[in-house]
Amino acid sequence: MRAPTVAVLTLLAGSALALYWTTQSSAAWTEQEIRLVTSLALSKLPPLPADPSNAVADEPIAATLGKALFFDTRLSANTEVACATCHLPDRQFQDDLPRARGVGETARRTMPIAGTAYSPWLFWDGRKDSQWSQALGPLESAVEHGTDRAYISHLIETYYADQYSAVFGPLPPLAQVPEHASPTGAEAALQGWLSLGDEQRDAVNRVFANVGKAIAAYERTILPEPSRFDIYADALAASGNTAGILSDEEIEGLRVFVGKGECTKCHNGPLLTDNYFHNTGVPAVPGLQDDLGRTTGTAQILADPFNCLGAYSDAGPDDCAELKYLTAAGDEMIRAYKPPSLRGVADRPPYMHAGQIKTLGNVLEHYNAAPAAPNGHSEITPLSLDAGEIAALESFLGTLSPISAKGGQP
Ligand code: HEC
Ligand code: HEC
Repeated sequence: MRAPTVAVLTLLAGSALALYWTTQSSAAWTEQEIRLVTSLALSKLPPLPADPSNAVADEPIAATLGKALFFDTRLSANTEVACATCHLPDRQFQDDLPRARGVGETARRTMPIAGTAYSPWLFWDGRKDSQWSQALGPLESAVEHGTDRAYISHLIETYYADQYSAVFGPLPPLAQVPEHASPTGAEAALQGWLSLGDEQRDAVNRVFANVGKAIAAYERTILPEPSRFDIYADALAASGNTAGILSDEEIEGLRVFVGKGECTKCHNGPLLTDNYFHNTGVPAVPGLQDDLGRTTGTAQILADPFNCLGAYSDAGPDDCAELKYLTAAGDEMIRAYKPPSLRGVADRPPYMHAGQIKTLGNVLEHYNAAPAAPNGHSEITPLSLDAGEIAALESFLGTLSPISAKGGQP
């Protein structure tokens, strides 16, 4: 056997030093950091908040009907688009596209759905205040399902009358309602709406709202799945013995996430989102109409007949605090968007509200550089992270992916 060379000895000494260094760096959490890290664990997610605006939100038969509707392509102008066309169950209920395609192309990216029952506001700009009322939007959008509320009501009568009445009671008479009718949308639908009396309009609106309520009952069952990060955070909370759960680079990334990176300012709690609205200087997409984000969303939610205070909500007068105390949007809401949950984020590029940023690495470069916003004022400031810290942060984000391949599908 030959004696070890100087080179091998140097290598051995070097790796011993590296081991010592990494063990040190992953062990030393402060009390405050431990509190912050463990507050992000899925085990800290509170029970589903009640939705008083939807009386059937927790009814299993409503969820069964809602699930069927979610996957039914007959609910579209070309019989080819269902909610699941853009919200693919095996892709975290999104579609991997920068901008969604239904019967036409939308101006925004499809959002993942897991855990959105916890969000007081829906859509990137929060222009809806419940899951049931959100679901009505795509059905009447000219570029998503391309239908209208009368058309949907007739479909329910044709294909789902029994299931519908088991949840909501008998359908109202719809024979006199034209095939297409809606106060929004295409000319034929507008004409149809004008031909209806108040009682018929109310009947159509009610069936339409109930379709949303059934779909919402299904969506409430779509929840995030545990990740390797959760195992680490739970172990940190329980015993502090976290050996071997995350790599040193992943732990270093977590340290940047809760520290120097300032990510938990907005990506906090077990869903890693504060479900509020922030301008983070995301660039506009050339060729698309100006997008003012929450500024437009605030105006729309207040005017929405299907909001928490509206005639089709099941909420009592004291149940709609979020909406009642909504402050009119100031300058800080210009181009402000809702941060999506970062759970599973590494597996679903592209990123941001219109898919502006291609890779996770590019997202981190964006935060590090903090460019000025195209409109309004960005809340983020340059971070001065070095290449190692950025790489570590990217590794950490990978630990938020579900361990099982199911991706939240109930
Ligand atoms: C054409 C693709 C498409 C179809 C079809 C579609 N969506 Fe979406 N979904 C999107 C896009 C794009 C957004 C974000 C739009 C925005 O913010 O303006 C979104 C947002 C959402 C959100 C908001 C999530 C959050 O965090 O706020 C929910 C919930 C949702 N969709 C459910 C549905 C349901 C239910 C249906 C069927 C009734 C449906 N979607 C049909 C593309 C689609
Ligand atoms: C001031 C609030 C704020 C801070 C701080 C912040 N984010 Fe975000 N984050 C957002 C908002 C808002 C969006 C969505 C913006 C958009 O689409 O225009 C977002 C989007 C993202 C996305 C893309 C998610 C997706 O599905 O498109 C990732 C990844 C992300 N943030 C990671 C981070 C990391 C890592 C940090 C820390 C370096 C961080 N964020 C700091 C608010 C913030």
